[in-house]
Amino acid sequence: MTRTHVPVLAGELIDLTQPAPGETAVDCTFGAGGHARLVAERIGPTGTLVCIDRDPAAEEHFEELAREVACETRFLRMDYADGLELLNEEELQADVVYLDLGVSSMQVDARERGFSYSYDAPLDMRMDPSQELDAREIVNSWDERQLAQLFRRYGEDPNARRIAREIVKRREAAPITTTGELVAAIEGALPAAVRRRFGGGHPAKRVFQAVRIAVNTELDSLDRALPLAWEVLRDNGRFAAISFHSLEDRRVKRFLAELARGCICPPDFPVCVCGHEPEAELLTGRAVAPTPGEVADNPRAKSGRLRAARKLGGEDRG
Ligand SMILES: C[S@@+](CC[C@H](N)C(=O)[O-])C[C@H]1O[C@@H](n2cnc3c(N)ncnc32)[C@H](O)[C@@H]1O
Repeated sequence: MTRTHVPVLAGELIDLTQPAPGETAVDCTFGAGGHARLVAERIGPTGTLVCIDRDPAAEEHFEELAREVACETRFLRMDYADGLELLNEEELQADVVYLDLGVSSMQVDARERGFSYSYDAPLDMRMDPSQELDAREIVNSWDERQLAQLFRRYGEDPNARRIAREIVKRREAAPITTTGELVAAIEGALPAAVRRRFGGGHPAKRVFQAVRIAVNTELDSLDRALPLAWEVLRDNGRFAAISFHSLEDRRVKRFLAELARGCICPPDFPVCVCGHEPEAELLTGRAVAPTPGEVADNPRAKSGRLRAARKLGGEDRG
């Protein structure tokens, strides 16, 4: 098995979600099970842990974990939005549901999967290798305007147009089929002076991130999953999400803020007439960031942001 993944903001996730003995937890993004293992220890032999991941490599890690922990375990190899839909159909009531978004270190470090600009490999980037759409398809078939928009929106790359133009020019001669060729096109698009401005960062980082998000329809899955995750929680259940991209964090923040809203009357109403009650208590005001110590030990934690909320129930409303 490829090198494992160090869970990000793990202590903070446990402190906020407080998994307790006998509870049911849903890990929507199992990966190597770093968070799941901590949760399993907390819920103990009478607890139940449902794990979801669309990557078959995660399932191998799950089998290892299932042998080692005392709680009841179950794995769903599918998109977490589909997994949560299934759990809702089964009328599961969870006490804790969490997502740790993005890619795992195993995925990035598995050279042949094409997630990394650091290794030359086929342009792939699929978390679920049975899916049809891959990075090669996007890079070679999207038109210049679509590519530029992708690099700007999901990669926030200031050189999006230049890079898209260069990719289209190069692929006219021959399709771009490897990560090395994509890196060469990105570098070729940037004059030396612009490239120097990247300092320690790699000039291909933003484009690779953008293509990966598109290949795996990451934002669509998150949009679908958030209400389903909330639905599967029982009253007093705790929800948490760790994001690594501002577009993810913004979605989580807005979703939770909407649930935590009380009155929804127009602001010019002198008194409340809606009687609307909040469904959530925010457990994090600002998003929780990793400590400098965690980032020093695990630089991949740097952009992690954790938000959490508790589902309010009858008791809270008195
Ligand atoms: C950051 S890693 C999770 C690491 C994990 N928390 C740990 O401690 O090992 C994200 C995982 O989520 C999975 N994933 C991402 N998007 C997914 C989706 N829409 N459906 C199912 N799994 C997804 C990836 O395959 C990856 O294994």
